[in-house]
Amino acid sequence: MGIQESAPLDVDAIREDFPILQRRVGPEEKQVVYLDNAATTQTPEPVVETITDYYRQYNANVHRGIHHLSQEASIAYEEAHDRLAEFVGADGREEMVFTKNTTEAENLVAYAWGLNELGPGDEVVLTEMEHHASLVTWQQIAERTGATARYIRVTDEGELDMDHARKVIGEATAMVSAVHVSNALGTVNPIEALVDLAHDHDALIFVDGAQAVPTRPVDVKAIDADFYAFSGHKMLGPTGIGCLYGKEALLDEMEPFNYGGDMIRKVTFEEATWNDLPWKFEAGTPVIAQGIALAAAADYLDGIGMDRVRAHEEFLSEVAYERLSAIDGVEIYGPPPGDDRRAGLVSFNVEGVHAHDLASIMNDHAVAIRAGDHCTQPLHDHLGITASARASFYVYNRPDEIDALIEGIEDAQELFA
Ligand code: ALA
Repeated sequence: MGIQESAPLDVDAIREDFPILQRRVGPEEKQVVYLDNAATTQTPEPVVETITDYYRQYNANVHRGIHHLSQEASIAYEEAHDRLAEFVGADGREEMVFTKNTTEAENLVAYAWGLNELGPGDEVVLTEMEHHASLVTWQQIAERTGATARYIRVTDEGELDMDHARKVIGEATAMVSAVHVSNALGTVNPIEALVDLAHDHDALIFVDGAQAVPTRPVDVKAIDADFYAFSGHKMLGPTGIGCLYGKEALLDEMEPFNYGGDMIRKVTFEEATWNDLPWKFEAGTPVIAQGIALAAAADYLDGIGMDRVRAHEEFLSEVAYERLSAIDGVEIYGPPPGDDRRAGLVSFNVEGVHAHDLASIMNDHAVAIRAGDHCTQPLHDHLGITASARASFYVYNRPDEIDALIEGIEDAQELFA
């Protein structure tokens, strides 16, 4: 898509569902320009209404009450699992576990599968662009089990070196954990090729889809991932909920991650047996309001159409990439847009301006961006930098908001000249 083409979404209509975007902030009361969507997205009115409706009409604990409110809450909560399963192409609720976030989903698999299955001689293969959620988790589980963590290199263009992947993934590989879309580089990884490589060597693969599910159509069955995780708050849902897809046979064999109420079938003073999937992995009072609201977020996104969401992201990414590339002294990380190589975010540095200073100047313009290592310290070490600035887009962003980003950069360059 050329950048002259207009954005394919009716962004003005979408923005009406997000009153927060009308907020004016700071001493000059400038209208907020929200470009921090890879960190968290805003919540549309239908999702907010779903949450308030739950608390106003049928707030109750699930799977515990005979009474009407509990039955209504239980049905809505269970159906939310079906809805999220459908959203990513899973077979049904048995394959869709609700967690706190993507990080907890990663820890669930690392503890429940990794601690039991890994041992000396086994290798866990990660990528150099993993988020700490994956990198630290598997590093620690490898250390505890005597397994070894290995890393697939990132090329100078910020993409996975697939030749290196073919060398690193081998007979010793027990698990591959790879990010689908990099939160730091925007890179869209060739996830199907990684899945095939892992399976060719009888290894399992966990995919961190935190930046992928919100930004493109994802079909976990077509990808053939063994595990696939994502977070609600990055796809217009509430905080406090993540989703773990797992192949039913694998989840069935795994030990529970947390113990407690609702995850058991029968308990005696000596032992316990486990509930059906997915409840076996949802100990204690679960994320009821969040789960029901996330289903509403999935409805909202499907109402737009995930193909159109991806097209809009690519459009804004292309506009931002070209505008930033035209500024002297700006270094952009990650691949160029086009051919589904980059999702809707751009990380960069401005020569002579620390990313945190830049974010602070942006804040004076009411432009919200993120600065730092984006929970990818080893990747930033690899890039030879300590921090970067990141602008990330979503369905309610307009191309003219990129003007505000550019003005902020120009202002910073003048200030630090
Ligand atoms: N992982 C989130 C981000 O990239 C928080 O900002």
